[in-house]
This record gives sequence, structure tokens and C-alpha cells, in this order.
Amino acid sequence: MLDGARGMRLSLQDVSVRYGARLALDGIRLEARGGEVLALIGPNGSGKSTLLRAVAGLQRHGGRVTMDGATPDATGFMPQDNGARAALTVLETVLLGRRRALGWRVPQAELARASDMLRRLGIAALADRLLGELSGGQRQMVFLAQVLAAEPALLLLDEPTSALDIRHALSLLALVRELTRARDLVTIIAIHDLNAAARFADRIALLCEGRLLADGAPRSVLTEATIARAYGVEAHVHAAPDGHLAISPCRALAAA
Ligand SMILES: Nc1ncnc2c1ncn2[C@@H]1O[C@H](COP(=O)(O)OP(=O)(O)OP(=O)(O)O)[C@@H](O)[C@H]1O
Ligand SMILES: [Mg+2]
Repeated sequence: MLDGARGMRLSLQDVSVRYGARLALDGIRLEARGGEVLALIGPNGSGKSTLLRAVAGLQRHGGRVTMDGATPDATGFMPQDNGARAALTVLETVLLGRRRALGWRVPQAELARASDMLRRLGIAALADRLLGELSGGQRQMVFLAQVLAAEPALLLLDEPTSALDIRHALSLLALVRELTRARDLVTIIAIHDLNAAARFADRIALLCEGRLLADGAPRSVLTEATIARAYGVEAHVHAAPDGHLAISPCRALAAA
């Protein structure tokens, strides 16, 4: 790739969010670069979904979110719980992600693109099934297919693997990383699985009570001391046989 072809960059400058009197995000400064997967981790209620919604432009916030090199409508956001159960088939749902590009008649190329995304996610066999008649994990994969088929420049996924079995979770994260690199996407994934974050993320940002506690390479963020501080959990951090970082949570520490 030519120099300068890369260079998409998302910046958060002092982003804060209040829900009434409660400060849910407090002065977040963070950068995400094109071609890299940024994992957003942190305990329940630490502000991950709030941050993704603020970046997606769906949440009023203080501070600034800026994206160089892409138009704002190129954002693909998959919420944590998208309660949608519309009477649509799987294929129609994926096509909806391309609605800006489509008129009333769906060109063959669009059908092929949607079908290809279903195939890459391993759910091609579901194409004609109704959304409301799928399992929770199947539905989660359909919404991921919808977001990816729209070819966003900024990809925001809120716990995209929370309902998936280990095989589907691994292949989904591998696909997201592959697309991120191939298309130079800025990708942020909120995720609870620290092992998945260690394996698939280029960088990890750790939120705790609305503040950014750590940000950097998986190895620098996922230390035993930081995990104890953020989660109140004793964990062993070691090298897996293939050299990847592995985290074995052992026990919840008594509250301080
Ligand atoms: N619409 C809302 N109104 C008021 N408070 C909210 C609202 N949404 C979230 N909060 C609060 O803001 C804080 C951050 O919530 P958020 O959903 O961003 O956390 P999270 O890190 O995504 O948690 P989880 O891991 O459970 O998904 C929590 O204390 C939550 O109770
Ligand atoms: Mg959340």
C-alpha cells in the first residue's frame, strides 16, 4: 500500500457524558488508528457502551470526537442489545444495511455482497429464515453481517461475541480483524473476554468508573496488577503455548 493511503484516525478529546447527576464518562482522551482493532474493556457499568454511542453520534457528550479521512455517515454501529425482531428475512436484514445505496430494486451485485457476508460469517444457510425465529447467537451474527456489508469506515461493535459459541466468536473476531486491516477501518470493539481481547486487539483501552485507566498494547494493559485494580479479581497472566497472552481469572478479591 502507498504511504499516506493509511492514516484514518479517530480522536476523542476530553469526552464526557452525564446521565442526570451521574458522570458516566469523565474526560476520555483516546486515539484509534485505521487498520487497527482497539478493544474496549472494563467492568460492567464502566462506560463502554456510553463511549461507543458517543462516538457513533448517538449520545450527547462534552468534548470532541473527530474522524480524519472519512465522512460521518460511514459509521457502522452494532449496539449491545438491538431488540429488533422485525418480520424480515436474514438476507433482507443484511440488505437493509446498504439502504443508502439501494433503491426499490435490489441489484444482483448487492444480493451477491450480502450473501457473501453471510457466507463469510458461516450463516449462509439462514438467508431465508425470519429474524424473529433465530437463536440469540444467530441473530447477533446477522446484525454483524448487516453492519459489515454496509462497508463502514468506522466500525463500532458493542460486545459482538456475547452470545456466540467459541468457534463463532473466534471466526467473527478473525474476520473483523481481517476486514479492519484490508479496508483500513477504525475498529472499536467493547468486549468482556480478556483472552479474546489479548488475541485479536492491536490495542486495548481499559475503562473503570468512566475513566480511562490504561491504554496501550495488550501486554502493557493486561497485567495482574491492572486486572486486580480494575476488576477486583486475582488473575494469572501468562504466555499461551502459541506465544499469545493468556489470562486465567482465579477469584474475586474481597472488596476494599
Ligand atoms: N440511559 C441511561 N440513563 C442513566 N444512566 C445510564 C444510562 N445508560 C447507562 N447508564 C449508566 O452509565 C454507566 C455506564 O453504562 P454503560 O452502559 O456505558 O456501561 P458498560 O461499560 O457498557 O457496561 P456493561 O459491561 O454492563 O455493558 C452505568 O453506571 C449505567 O448505569
Ligand atoms: Mg455495555
